[in-house]
Amino acid sequence: MDTSARRRISPVTTEYNGNLLHWTLVAVAVGGIVSAIFYEAFVREYFTASEEEQIPDMVVAVMSARENFAQRQTIRGTWMQHLHTGIIAEKVHVKFIIGKHGCNMHPDYRNYQHSCDPLQLDAYDISKAKTFNLFKVDRGHENSAVYEFVVVPCLRIFIRNSVIVNKIGVLSNISQPVSVKLLSADGKETVASASFMTGIGEKHHGYIYKAIQPIILPQAFEGLLVAQNIADSVQYRGSSETTAPGLVDVTGMFADEEGIQPVVGVNAISAGSLAFLVQDSDRLKAMISERNQKNNDWHQRESSLLVKLREENARFGDILFTDVTDTYANLPAKLLQCFKLTAPKLDFKYLLKTDDDCYLNLPRIHRELQMLTRSHLWWSNFRVNWPVQRFGKWRDAKYPSALYPPFACGAGYVLSHDLILWLAANSKYLQQYQGEDVSMGIWLAAVGPTFVHDNRWSCDSTCTDDSLSVAQLNSSSMHELWSNEQTCGNPCSCPT
Ligand SMILES: *[C@@H]1O[C@H](CO)[C@@H](O)[C@H](O)[C@H]1NC(C)=O
Ligand SMILES: *[C@@H]1O[C@H](CO)[C@@H](O)[C@H](O)[C@H]1NC(C)=O
Repeated sequence: MDTSARRRISPVTTEYNGNLLHWTLVAVAVGGIVSAIFYEAFVREYFTASEEEQIPDMVVAVMSARENFAQRQTIRGTWMQHLHTGIIAEKVHVKFIIGKHGCNMHPDYRNYQHSCDPLQLDAYDISKAKTFNLFKVDRGHENSAVYEFVVVPCLRIFIRNSVIVNKIGVLSNISQPVSVKLLSADGKETVASASFMTGIGEKHHGYIYKAIQPIILPQAFEGLLVAQNIADSVQYRGSSETTAPGLVDVTGMFADEEGIQPVVGVNAISAGSLAFLVQDSDRLKAMISERNQKNNDWHQRESSLLVKLREENARFGDILFTDVTDTYANLPAKLLQCFKLTAPKLDFKYLLKTDDDCYLNLPRIHRELQMLTRSHLWWSNFRVNWPVQRFGKWRDAKYPSALYPPFACGAGYVLSHDLILWLAANSKYLQQYQGEDVSMGIWLAAVGPTFVHDNRWSCDSTCTDDSLSVAQLNSSSMHELWSNEQTCGNPCSCPT
């Protein structure tokens, strides 16, 4: 009876998404009601028992998307079973980390599928004949503020909705001759080009345009618009803007000895421009007219997901809801929220971060933790000298260097409590970069953690006899690993 009473009030077994203080107060109240003797016993137990007995060794944070019910069920039915038996029961907590909010916008109407910013389509007159100029430089009035613009010779272009390019432009103040080229993202192929020699051409909003053989740039085309031989700084009155952000996304770039980098933190103005028509205006119009309906349906879907999630948590009690919109782009924020909700409230020794498609060899990880330091520890399989991508799916438009600092592969890493506390305390100063794994590397570079590099944290589906984690698994593979582990102690395979 004593044990079960203790279990109810001990912070070790209390859910840590509740509030420890709250539970302590409940404990005090219960103690008062039941008996003063019990209360004293509790206080004695709580404050004098050895640290080892009180503090969970490890919290496992499994990053999981709202709709991944099946993945979570698979984990509950496989490696999470260890929580109920053997040495690690009670010593390890597992929580699924899920964003409380869904993105209420249908993916077709987002700037990027993995974010939750709206695609800006409203302002346009989308008729077949309408020509868009990619940029507009507005000189403003005589006495309006003068801005110093950095003229950027190179522009990354990403096509959100298919367009037909029929003209190439150059900033009219740039001394000629100059040529402007549209290249494929790898820089190898010239898609279109124009040369400007005499300052003659059609003038629109600060640019001079020349007609080219029309070309279709399909949705998701990624390329570079490069102007050759230009000076680097020009003063303008007024401002420059992209005229059709829902159709084409642009980022100013420059090249230096480290390679090609995004321009950040200055008023940039593009040396080159394009003129184009919408390629399939009927499709785009239909898309715009269906927007409200599709977004409403999506909202409904997200609301019913939340109901299901609450039911799931009522049943299993293993979800930690973070106050973020649950998208891929928000993973760094979600991770920081998770740290804020755990580390200051619960005195665990280590936190292990993993994903919901990963298998963990919990007994082995737990056994080896006993041999590791309890401060400044970062134990994982690290990626070192990893180049920052400027194009493609893993494009990073923020980190201003060619290489990332070392970062752990997201499938599995262990951090000591002090590092999690530091991240939680500083979370409001930490910027989000592309991906939760590289963000962690950038944030922790400031602290100088002790890297314990270990190849046994497998970053993919390779299973070796000493693996600590195996990643990118479907449900049947997870069950197979678990069945092997139970049969012969080795998840990868058993002798036949
Ligand atoms: C840009 O061109 C306009 C018109 O030709 C001129 O008035 C202005 O002084 C020029 N600005 C610069 C910085 O060259
Ligand atoms: C799961 O993954 C394994 C290994 O990659 C593959 O052979 C199997 O077909 C997959 N099963 C399902 C249901 O997708």
